[in-house]
Amino acid sequence: MVKSYQSYINGEWETALQTLPIYSPEDHELMGYIPNLSKEEIDKAMNAANKSQKMWKDTSYKERAILLHRVADYIRHHADEWSIILSREIAKNRNSAKDEWLRTAELIDYTAEEGVRLEGELLDGGSFDSTAKHKMALVMQEPLGTVLAIAPFNYPVNLSASKIAPALIGGNTVVFKAPTQGAISGTLLIEAFDKAGVPHGVINLITGQGQQIGDYLVQHPQVDFINFTGSTKIGQHISQISGMKPLLLELGGKDAALVLEDADLKQAAKDIISGAFSYSGQRCTAIKRVIVMKEVEQEFIHLLTTEINKLTVGTSDSNAIITPLINIKSADNVVQMIHEAIQQGAIAHQPIIQKDNLVYPVLLSNVNKDMRVAIEEPFGPVLPILTVDNYEEAIQLINESQYGLQAAIFTKNYPRAFTISKMLEVGTIHINNKTQRGTDNFPFLGVKHSGLGVQGVKYAIKASMRPKSVVFDF
Ligand code: NAP
Ligand code: G3P
Repeated sequence: MVKSYQSYINGEWETALQTLPIYSPEDHELMGYIPNLSKEEIDKAMNAANKSQKMWKDTSYKERAILLHRVADYIRHHADEWSIILSREIAKNRNSAKDEWLRTAELIDYTAEEGVRLEGELLDGGSFDSTAKHKMALVMQEPLGTVLAIAPFNYPVNLSASKIAPALIGGNTVVFKAPTQGAISGTLLIEAFDKAGVPHGVINLITGQGQQIGDYLVQHPQVDFINFTGSTKIGQHISQISGMKPLLLELGGKDAALVLEDADLKQAAKDIISGAFSYSGQRCTAIKRVIVMKEVEQEFIHLLTTEINKLTVGTSDSNAIITPLINIKSADNVVQMIHEAIQQGAIAHQPIIQKDNLVYPVLLSNVNKDMRVAIEEPFGPVLPILTVDNYEEAIQLINESQYGLQAAIFTKNYPRAFTISKMLEVGTIHINNKTQRGTDNFPFLGVKHSGLGVQGVKYAIKASMRPKSVVFDF
């Protein structure tokens, strides 16, 4: 019997009037049904979050932290069972799916610990004006109110908890919109909050097609802060219609790996292939272009080819690195980009194979910067290589992108790596390693079309709060 999952509103699991089927991207088998919520049901969730705000804001950081630790423990207890579901739901290999659940438990524990150490400030007016030394400001942190947390399909658990936990520890209530492909796993995450005893109304689960209910959610008058992770296209749309609401947007990327002539080429090849192709390239921080110095280009292409040929291709339960993409549209788009590049002169170093949603990994050389594959985010297993004569040219090429999420620099010359880093228009630079969000306490941000605001535990807590000053003269 295929399970029908329920919505979670005001602490109650409710069977929805309308549902959506969820199929595994791998074998297209029906996995279950999720609620396709109406505007009336969304209003109910918003009302519940709004009505429970005062109660939740009045709890202590300690009480909130205790609940979050219980959530983390519940997740760890169910990680094995839930990994199978997550793996099938988004075709993420079993090991990575388990890692996502365990990493999420760690993130929630860390958020609880970070939250109880939040501090206010005491400011002295005499620091600004010699006649104001009897004026003091007591600055507290206050929750913004109700947080709308919207997560993407590729980390439907971790990138949901990375919004929900910081919001809760900060005293906010949450309305969580799970990605449709990932909604079953998102529902299991909410089960952990429910079983941990989070009070009714403090967290509410919304499922349904973002294209249908997204605008209603984002423009809802009872939403006080929107924390969104997803595509640049949707993020920009949200920023245009959300009015004065505070926003945190984590969007697309075109992360470059810059390989200088003095790099440890063998290690760089290993790191770059791992960074480009884990979860079939469906990571915002995936390496999506290699920029290599001309003098080492041929040697490096050979090393990359050696590494790419080691990648396993198959189903998620076999722990293959390359598994089917999230849907056929995504797979078709990747293959089309590859064919287009080849027609424009690029060289494919592997056969181009697509079997339904599954696309085999391809390395492209002789790529020029005007090709779609060098500019856009394929979100799939293709890696274009561009060649430059010097690192000044590389910096220009990296900064020309509309994206600015992360970059990696492979070199033994650290002073030069820092010099280049200072000139790159990105949120994070990794030296001699693949681009990646970890660890989750680090600031995680995109500039330009890659985002707005900063994630990372303590940054996400602060983003969901605002200062309140009490000024007095004595
Ligand atoms: P997406 O299509 O933008 O969807 C992201 C979330 O937004 C989903 O929950 C989606 O719901 C919802 N949504 C869709 N239309 C909406 C609307 N009009 N208003 C409000 N919400 C709406 O992205 P995705 O395909 O899930 O994820 C892949 C993209 O996200 C890639 O571009 C990737 O680079 C980016 N990403 C960025 C980061 C980062 O941290 N920077 C991390 C992961 C992914 P439905 O699922 O129902 O459509
Ligand atoms: O695309 C999700 C983004 O957050 C990547 O996370 O840890 O795989 O670098 P990570």
